[in-house]
Amino acid sequence: MAEPIDGTDIGMSTSADSPERPKTAYVTGGASGIGRALTQMLVGASYRVFIADLDIHSASQLADMLNASYPFADPRVHCAKVDVASWESQLDGFKQALAFFNGRLDVAAPVAGIAERQWLKEEGEMLALGLEDEFGEGFMRPDLRTLEVDLQGVLWTVGLAVQQMRRQEMDGEGFRGRIACVSSTCGLYSIPALPVYTAAKQGVVGFVRSYGKLLPGKYEILMNAVCPNIVRTNIEGEEYYAAAERKGLIVPMQNVLDCFDHVLSSKVSGEVFEVGPDGEGGSEEKWVVREGLEYLDKKTERSVTLLEEEKVRRVEVTDEVDEVRNEVEKLERAEMKGLDGEAAQLIAGEQVEDRFVQDAVEDGRKRRRVA
Ligand SMILES: NC(=O)c1ccc[n+]([C@@H]2O[C@H](COP(=O)([O-])OP(=O)(O)OC[C@H]3O[C@@H](n4cnc5c(N)ncnc54)[C@H](O)[C@@H]3O)[C@@H](O)[C@H]2O)c1
Repeated sequence: MAEPIDGTDIGMSTSADSPERPKTAYVTGGASGIGRALTQMLVGASYRVFIADLDIHSASQLADMLNASYPFADPRVHCAKVDVASWESQLDGFKQALAFFNGRLDVAAPVAGIAERQWLKEEGEMLALGLEDEFGEGFMRPDLRTLEVDLQGVLWTVGLAVQQMRRQEMDGEGFRGRIACVSSTCGLYSIPALPVYTAAKQGVVGFVRSYGKLLPGKYEILMNAVCPNIVRTNIEGEEYYAAAERKGLIVPMQNVLDCFDHVLSSKVSGEVFEVGPDGEGGSEEKWVVREGLEYLDKKTERSVTLLEEEKVRRVEVTDEVDEVRNEVEKLERAEMKGLDGEAAQLIAGEQVEDRFVQDAVEDGRKRRRVA
């Protein structure tokens, strides 16, 4: 195990050491707080890490410190200035990361986040800013930056990671990659004073519980979420942390890291881990898996099952339709060249029974007529 930096135990139960290549991790928000601690833990376990953060100054400092601290022949940490709320910026940063990783991404950790911002101004503030007139007829566009960073930004990182991972070879454990998102206890409990943060974090939880269940079967990718309670980082001010500390409510960063370690070494997917203050509130565990709600009744359970089955069937049929469409197009091209035997067979519907597939064939026919 490598020496700790900043008092954090950077040992992981699964090391990325391999005779062939180090594992790779893309961490958004890696310049500070939870992302920083995660970056240190991963580098300590021999990962090659790319930090994507708006704060390029802190990210570069951390990268330099880690590269100087570890006796690897090549630099293990690289970074870029990325705004996760901008698709173009994320795409650019992600491509830089892939170049640094020589094209292989093992872990994606969308951690970057911001606290609640005032999404609607009070009437007095609007009047003062000239956003509302004395007749009370003005409207302002709500500030949804928290949602853009904490939810949309996470989904964009996941979208990039999935597109990359699904075309990679499987690793020794049979997976093409792992995604560890960060939500929050606000993803599980609703806080009236933090409505947009709560919406964003619950959005991450819903996304992970749904898409995370689909990913292993579809692409051999695992995705889970870590939901920490109050952790001392730079996301809030000292006054808030001092109050939490007095009440014994601060979650040690080590608990969060242990949870990440578990998530990155287990084979579960679509699970949400709550990280609470050690031993507080009757919880003996540093973290626990949080299940979704119970069904209202049997009919609700059957409705939810039906939604899932119907959706999966439609996705399968759509895939099949796409295949047939491609086939029809290929055959049309062949037919134009005078090779029409097989095309005639297909268009007669001999090889296709499903009515959705028949529709695709009909589409092909129409397009041929138009052409
Ligand atoms: N600290 C807590 O108590 C706590 C609890 C639960 C969840 N979280 C979540 O953990 C995550 C990390 O937060 P933290 O507490 O470590 O905060 P932090 O402020 O210490 O670190 C957040 C990092 O994200 C970066 N960042 C912010 N906006 C960005 C953007 N648009 N693009 C790229 N980078 C951006 C910041 O520059 C910073 O380096 C957040 O998603 C936060 O909501 C924190």
